[in-house]
Amino acid sequence: MDLITRFKTKLGQGMPPVIVDGADAPVNANHRFGDDVDVTIFPAARHWAGDGGRYIGTGDAILTRDPDGGWLNVGCYRQMVQGKNQVGLYLSPGKDARLHIERYWSRNEPCEVVAVWGVDPAMFVAASLGFGKTLSELEFIGGITGRPMELCKGQAGSVPYPAHAEIVAEGVIRPDAMKLEGPFGEFTGYYGRPEDMAFLMEVKALHFRDKPILTHALMADYPANETSLLYSIARAAKIWNDLDKLGVPGIRGVYCHPAAAGGWGLTIVSLEQRYAGHAPQVLALASQVPGGAYYAKWIIAVDEDVDPSNMNQVLWAMATRCNPAEDIDLLRQTWSTWLDPTQNPPEERPYGSKALINACMEHRYIKQFSKRTKVRRSVYESVARRWSQLGFPGAPPRLWALEDGERQEPPAG
Ligand SMILES: Cc1cc2nc3c(=O)[nH]c(=O)nc-3n(C[C@H](O)[C@H](O)[C@H](O)COP(=O)(O)O)c2cc1C
Repeated sequence: MDLITRFKTKLGQGMPPVIVDGADAPVNANHRFGDDVDVTIFPAARHWAGDGGRYIGTGDAILTRDPDGGWLNVGCYRQMVQGKNQVGLYLSPGKDARLHIERYWSRNEPCEVVAVWGVDPAMFVAASLGFGKTLSELEFIGGITGRPMELCKGQAGSVPYPAHAEIVAEGVIRPDAMKLEGPFGEFTGYYGRPEDMAFLMEVKALHFRDKPILTHALMADYPANETSLLYSIARAAKIWNDLDKLGVPGIRGVYCHPAAAGGWGLTIVSLEQRYAGHAPQVLALASQVPGGAYYAKWIIAVDEDVDPSNMNQVLWAMATRCNPAEDIDLLRQTWSTWLDPTQNPPEERPYGSKALINACMEHRYIKQFSKRTKVRRSVYESVARRWSQLGFPGAPPRLWALEDGERQEPPAG
């Protein structure tokens, strides 16, 4: 929760990127243009035995320009090697780069693309988060690192690329350029959708450092997938930041457990219920804000005395404060992906559904709700003070629910 709170603060601090002189940029140490382009010089990996090919972009960042607004989007999307100067780009429905490409194509125009295959972690995190569809993630990268992101002017196109990247490809997706791609072992722990058509990027130029690092993100069940932990912390902070921006009061914390399909499948919000309808409002918004809308299937609200990152506490709240017949709502036909294994046959994808679970004390009777058993604060503090003296290892656990006030003596007799 500390990490989530700190990252949320950073998401509130934007800083626009700057264009620098490309001559000094580390990424410009080596170049390949035109016929010399060969993406197979990099050790793209086959992640899973059943993958349809070698993947060069998984922990990456892809830049495209909005054809109307002109702003630059940054997204993290998988890329499969299709040839010396060709890579497939898989984009789920509603992803910003997909919306850009579709609008260029509707005008019979190509879409310029910059692919960053060796990427700064801050850029990777920003690329994988859902921001509003009219915002550029580049500002948020500056906010996360505390310095403006440095970009070089494009050499084979008009989209700039990061000066401190390890490996960058400039290219173009021409109208109707598509090729069979996948399957790929995905964040769900399944091979996503069967092999199907995906956008085909023609690589026009490569720029890379000496001894460049190619960044990969293995998609797998948690905890084998460490990217999930990074992503779920960032996703929770983004949803909390979105709720703050909407002016929703009383949010005590947000958590996305990495075991729930890399953090995408579950959102838990802890709140102090301040008015009738507050918890249902938080559930509806958390399920649909830019940072939380895609894929999420389970959205759970808990009271402020429940740490959303403590699954013991969350399960306790679900088992004692949620009355399923009254407290679960469903949203249907929601934003999802071709990668969701529960939607069958695969041709019928990509619609999803969401369960909104209110595991807060019933607001109507909150004053009469049974009193919870809690450790007294004075007892907790005295034990915590003597923690190592008493022979306990590490730091004392932090408890979200403590009883204030002195011990109530039972009435005499
Ligand atoms: C490691 C990783 C790989 C991802 N791969 C893909 C992908 O191949 N295609 C896709 O549509 N989204 C993928 N995503 C999800 C997107 O990065 C995420 O939804 C992000 O918000 C997309 O950016 P956008 O909102 O600007 O479209 C991936 C996320 C992570 C963390």
